[in-house]
Amino acid sequence: MKPYVICHMLGSVDGKIKQDIWGFKDHHKYFEEPAAKIKADAWLVGRVTMQEFSSKKIPAKKSVSIRIPKVDFVAKQPAKKFAVVIDPSGKCYWDTNMVSTEHVIEVLTEKVSSAYLAHLQEKNVSYIFGGQAELDLKLVLEKLNKLFGIKTVRIDGGGHVNGSFLKAGLIDEFSLVLAPVADGTIGALSVFEAEKGYGKRKATIFTLKSVKKIYDDFLWIRYIVAKGKKL
Ligand SMILES: NC(=O)c1ccc[n+]([C@@H]2O[C@H](COP(=O)([O-])OP(=O)(O)OC[C@H]3O[C@@H](n4cnc5c(N)ncnc54)[C@H](OP(=O)(O)O)[C@@H]3O)[C@@H](O)[C@H]2O)c1
Repeated sequence: MKPYVICHMLGSVDGKIKQDIWGFKDHHKYFEEPAAKIKADAWLVGRVTMQEFSSKKIPAKKSVSIRIPKVDFVAKQPAKKFAVVIDPSGKCYWDTNMVSTEHVIEVLTEKVSSAYLAHLQEKNVSYIFGGQAELDLKLVLEKLNKLFGIKTVRIDGGGHVNGSFLKAGLIDEFSLVLAPVADGTIGALSVFEAEKGYGKRKATIFTLKSVKKIYDDFLWIRYIVAKGKKL
């Protein structure tokens, strides 16, 4: 079974997502407080976003004498909530298997080395394989459900991970905290980085689920993906 997928983001009125020039005193709260109101068993981010939470110490390269088979590893651990990272080449290192109260699950391809798998096993971090060289995101979601019982996933960015799930047609709902700022940086990351240029792909159309004014000048807009709808 595929879990229900809600993508949640904080964006400027021009759809940018990096807050470098927005001048907010506490930009985390505008993302985190609405996010905490969305019921989900797991949050999922791209490798770049997760590197803000993973270890800053990259261990010295070790070679391991045994070849560790490329099979899913479900760590024994008590947590019921999960922090999932799309990390195809294994670039995130861990001091612990938790981010806050959530158990870490690495989503890998079979490109990763035995030394990297040994690191994850040593830290008791769970991992699943989503493909040989490229990820099959539908398979990834199905494994998250089957191996960890995850029924709802909140995708928390960044733009590339959102874009790849959008392009694969796997997002059911989009939750946008619309910040009252125009960023204006040409080429800056946007909410959905799916594809360069205009090809055959059509835009994803939403229907409005709810809209709420928050923190005086922000809007929290929730949309449902309207499969097959034309405007
Ligand atoms: N405003 C907000 O609400 C918000 C929320 C989250 C993050 N952010 C910001 O967004 C920025 C990061 O966004 P980002 O788009 O650069 O990075 P990202 O989406 O966090 O991570 C992108 C990386 O994830 C891996 N990845 C994602 N989708 C994949 C797929 N389908 N197949 C294989 N690999 C895949 C790749 O890793 P490899 O490169 O290792 O192959 C890719 O380079 C940060 O500045 C962060 O602060 C903002």
